[in-house]
Amino acid sequence: MLEKLRVPGLGGWSEDPLWASFYDWSVEHPRAGGAVWRLGIGSDLGLLYAAAAEIGRQPAGSAVLDVPCGGGVALRGLRRGQGIRYVAADIAQAMLDRTMEAARERGVADQVEPDIADVGDLPYADGEFDLVVSFTGLHCFPDPHLAVLEMGRVTHAGGVLTGSALLNDTGLRTLPIRQVGRFSGLLGPSATKAEVRAWMAEAGFTDVTLRMSGAIGYFRGVKA
Ligand SMILES: C[S@@+](CC[C@H](N)C(=O)[O-])C[C@H]1O[C@@H](n2cnc3c(N)ncnc32)[C@H](O)[C@@H]1O
Repeated sequence: MLEKLRVPGLGGWSEDPLWASFYDWSVEHPRAGGAVWRLGIGSDLGLLYAAAAEIGRQPAGSAVLDVPCGGGVALRGLRRGQGIRYVAADIAQAMLDRTMEAARERGVADQVEPDIADVGDLPYADGEFDLVVSFTGLHCFPDPHLAVLEMGRVTHAGGVLTGSALLNDTGLRTLPIRQVGRFSGLLGPSATKAEVRAWMAEAGFTDVTLRMSGAIGYFRGVKA
């Protein structure tokens, strides 16, 4: 068995690696960060913001789960005074702290509940959420299949799961990132396009769409 590489700046998410700060910087800067995304993984960062906008279309009284919330990039979809319950869940406390800081800056902290949670064992009831968002997450989880099933379990019938992930069958360009990420413990096994579709179906989602932007796949489905 290969020993995990000790790469400076990388390491488990709970250790708040340097990479996490760089990643957060990239997603929060549409121009400079967007250029990094285009050059590094051939992907349009604008699609992440467009997908997060679905949060802003939820009516008052809705419940939204953002897992993993990371530094809170999806908060840009949440409107002030929208009147929803927004649960921001992540395995790393440092990420939750960043999310709450971002929520305060955006004036939406009154709607946000931070929660330490493992996506593979979510501490929520079946069907608790109307919308589950999981951006740039699946490829970071140790068991992405279980993660999709868990996110499906907590999605209400008629609700939506939407998210994005760095997928495996996307060519050689991102192979070094994926390999180093895995050996360092920062990334998990991820998935192919077919696996994402199959897992979404298994989790009870219909009308599944999967749109590729470079190496990032944007998936969305409606819970039957
Ligand atoms: C690349 S960041 C993405 C965060 C955010 N959604 C975004 O798009 O910026 C990946 C996040 O996954 C979290 N994470 C890793 N494993 C996890 C797990 N098993 N359960 C919950 N969160 C996890 C990390 O702490 C990190 O915040």
